[in-house]
Amino acid sequence: MRVAVVGSGYVGLTTGVGLAYLGNQVTCVDIDKQKILALREGQLPIYEPGLSELLQMASDNLSFTSDYQEAVPSADVVFIAVGTPALLDGGPNLDYLKSAALKIGQNLGEGFTVVVNKSTVPIGGGNWVEYLISEAFKSQNGYKPEDNYSVASNPEFLKEGSALYDTFYPDRIVVGSNDQRATDILTRLYRPIIEQDFMPPPFEPRPQGLKSVPFITMDLTSAELVKYAANAFLALKISFINEIAVLAEKVGADVQQVANGIGTDTRIGRRFLQAGIGWGGSCFGKDTAALLTIARDYGLEMPVIEAARSVNYQQRQRIIEKLLQELKILKGKKVGLLGLAFKPNTDDLRDAPSFQIAKGLLEKGAKVVAHDPVALGRAEREWYDLNIEFTKDIQLVFEDADAVVLVTEWDEYRHLAYGRLKASMRTPIIIDGRNFLQRDRLQDLGYRYLGVGR
Ligand code: UGA
Repeated sequence: MRVAVVGSGYVGLTTGVGLAYLGNQVTCVDIDKQKILALREGQLPIYEPGLSELLQMASDNLSFTSDYQEAVPSADVVFIAVGTPALLDGGPNLDYLKSAALKIGQNLGEGFTVVVNKSTVPIGGGNWVEYLISEAFKSQNGYKPEDNYSVASNPEFLKEGSALYDTFYPDRIVVGSNDQRATDILTRLYRPIIEQDFMPPPFEPRPQGLKSVPFITMDLTSAELVKYAANAFLALKISFINEIAVLAEKVGADVQQVANGIGTDTRIGRRFLQAGIGWGGSCFGKDTAALLTIARDYGLEMPVIEAARSVNYQQRQRIIEKLLQELKILKGKKVGLLGLAFKPNTDDLRDAPSFQIAKGLLEKGAKVVAHDPVALGRAEREWYDLNIEFTKDIQLVFEDADAVVLVTEWDEYRHLAYGRLKASMRTPIIIDGRNFLQRDRLQDLGYRYLGVGR
C-alpha cells in the first residue's frame, strides 16, 4: 500500500520505517527541511535502538520530503503523527495538527484516502481534522470533497526505547472509525502484524509463542479516549506503588516485595509497579493534564488522575528531602547524578525527573555533576541555562561527591567499579532513585544506600 506519514518524531518515524519494512511504499513528510535532509542521508534525529538499522533495511521503500504534494495525493493511508505538546494550561497545542490537516486537505488525491490520527488528540480531534480537511479541500478546489476520504483514530502505544518491539509485537492494535471502508483498509495494512506472518528483523525477534495480535475496532471517539485512558491508568499504577512506597518506608516494609505480592494477582499484573522517582517523558504528564482539561470542558473533576499527578511530582521532591536529611546542609555540597534521560535507552529529556532534581539542588546551593550515556549532548543544548556540570567521565560524578543519586536505570550503572569509586567520594551516600542497584553489594562495600520504599 502507499502510505504517507506526516511528522518525523518518535511515533512518525517508527511507524513509517516499520511499515516500509513490511513492504509498503512509505513517504515521511516533515516541515523541518534539515531533518528531511539528514533522514535522506540515513541520519535519525532521535535515538531509538534498532531504528537506524531498520531504516537501512527498508530504504528502498522509504522516501522523505517536506512537500505534501509528493506524499499525499497518491497515498491510500495518511498518518498524522505530529507533536501535540502541552500548553501552559495543560491542554495540548494543536497548531501542528491543524496545519497538517489543512495541508492534507489541500493535497488530497482522487482516490479514497484514510487519514489516521496517530498523534494523541483531544476527544473530538478526529471530527475536527475531518472538518479542516474538508475546508482546505474546498478552498483549494472550489468544491466540497466527494466522500473520498475518512478520518480514523489509531492510537499509539509504543514506548520509547522499545518502539520497534512495540510496533511489530504490540499487545493490541486499536482502530476507531465510523466508516467501514477505513477499517477495512487499516485491517489490510496491519494484516502482517495481526497475523504475525512477516519475517522479523534479525535484531527484533518475534517473542516465542506469539501467533497473532488482537485487532480491536470501535467508533472514533472511543478510540480517542482509549489512548488517554491507557496512559492515565499506567501513570496512576506507578503513582499508586509510589504512594505505597512512602508508607513502606515509614513502617519498615520493602515496596518491591509488596509489588511482587500484589502484582502476581493477574487482575493487578506485575508491570508498571516499579517504585522510584516516578514517571516522566512526553506522554504521561501531557496526557493526564490533557484529560483533566477535557473533563473540565464538561464540568467534570477527575480526582483520581489529579492525585496520580500530584503523587508523581512529589517523588522528585522526596529525593531532595532525602539528601537534606542525610547531608543536613546542601550549600556547597556536591551531588552526582547518574542518568538524565527520563528512562533508559532514550535520549529524551522531556519532563525528565532529573531536571527538577538538579534544579532543586542547585537552588539549594549544591553543585551538581551529571552523567548520561546518551542524553548528555542533548542536555547540554537544552539545559544550557542550568548550572549543571555535565561529564562523560563517571569518575567525576563520584569524585569528592557528598552523595550520588541514580536517576535513570541505565544498564551500565549496575556494574560500575563501585569499590574504587567510593574511595573518591567525600561521603559514600547513594540514593537509588529506581531501586535498581545491588543494595547488598553496595552496603558491603560500605556505602550508605537509600532506595525508594525499602
Ligand atoms: C508511554 C506508554 O507506556 C506507551 O504505551 C505510550 O504509547 C506512550 O507513553 C505515548 O503515549 O506515546 P513512554 O512514555 O515512552 O510510553 O515510556 P514508559 O516506558 O511508559 O515510561 C514512562 C515513565 O514511567 C518513565 O519515566 C519510567 O521510568 C516510569 N516508570 C515506568 C516507572 O516509574 N515505574 C514503572 O513501573 C514503569
